[in-house]
Amino acid sequence: MTAAGTDSAVLEPTTPVAYRVAGKRKEMGDTWTLELEPVGDQRLPGFLPGQFSMLYAFGSGEVPISVSAIAGGSGELTHTVRAVGAATGAICDARPGDQLGVRGPFGSVWPLDAAEGGDVVVVAGGIGLAPLRPAIEQLIAERDRYRAVTVLCGARSPDEMLYPSELQDWREAGIAVETTVDSATGDWEGRVGLVTKLIPLAPFQGERATAFVCGPEIMMRFVAAELRGRGIPPGRIHVSLERNMQCAVGHCGHCQLAHLFVCRDGPVFALDRVEPLLGVREL
Ligand SMILES: Cc1cc2nc3c(=O)[nH]c(=O)nc-3n(C[C@H](O)[C@H](O)[C@H](O)COP(=O)(O)OP(=O)(O)OC[C@H]3O[C@@H](n4cnc5c(N)ncnc54)[C@H](O)[C@@H]3O)c2cc1C
Ligand code: FES
Repeated sequence: MTAAGTDSAVLEPTTPVAYRVAGKRKEMGDTWTLELEPVGDQRLPGFLPGQFSMLYAFGSGEVPISVSAIAGGSGELTHTVRAVGAATGAICDARPGDQLGVRGPFGSVWPLDAAEGGDVVVVAGGIGLAPLRPAIEQLIAERDRYRAVTVLCGARSPDEMLYPSELQDWREAGIAVETTVDSATGDWEGRVGLVTKLIPLAPFQGERATAFVCGPEIMMRFVAAELRGRGIPPGRIHVSLERNMQCAVGHCGHCQLAHLFVCRDGPVFALDRVEPLLGVREL
């Protein structure tokens, strides 16, 4: 699925397009947000909230990274990346002007249209807020289409809370935002505890709510159980899964999860499709 009015036909999904780093912002110790712009005339089709690109750092490797903002049609791409290994380390080390190869857009989307008319609850763990941010921005831009909108964010410590300056902007835009940390440091006066603890307090009605969840897989399992306990049916709880990827177009099998390919069928899945597969070690 790609944004309307884009020209994907001329691009091969397996051939990277050259983008340069136009801007770079440090979010926390090992995590950076990069703004990318096309080097030449060729640019990728538009991305939708939940989709990902394959970012190629020359000589280091290619990795799937979700879009963390949706550009306004000018071709720029925004990604928030945590340096955990060779490829993500090289991407985070890239300086303004450096080039990266980019393929995409790939994957499924947060089903914002299907949530229309009901409550929406967004639950993020750590850097899981990055793939959810484009959905939150769209919820704010189209605030009248939804009833109560709630964002619940958990982080290991206050220093690891992503986009702290935007949380207040989101509150002022008419959505409830609650945060918690596993352990308080510095002058943190907010809640301490797992993000699951925020769910019983959140202002949504399960029978008319849709949930979008992203974070470590174990966190998503516990969050999903709490959301079900509040009455949201599994078909309206959506999770974004991560698996190692290579082709991103359903050919190589690297991202296979039983009968599903995370790159092609996901990464965003309704819980009723994947719940039995979550937490199975060999999958
Ligand atoms: C659809 C999708 C969207 C993603 N979006 C983002 C994003 O927005 N921002 C971001 O920073 N990362 C994102 N990731 C994760 C990112 O792709 C991995 O961190 C990356 O592949 C690691 O590659 P590497 O070469 O840097 O490290 P490697 O050398 O491959 O791995 C280094 C360490 O990280 C662990 N690791 C590798 N891959 C993952 C993974 N997928 N999840 C958790 N641990 C992993 C390894 O076990 C190892 O311990 C996404 C993954 C998927 C599948
Ligand atoms: S990454 Fe190749 S099939 Fe999904």
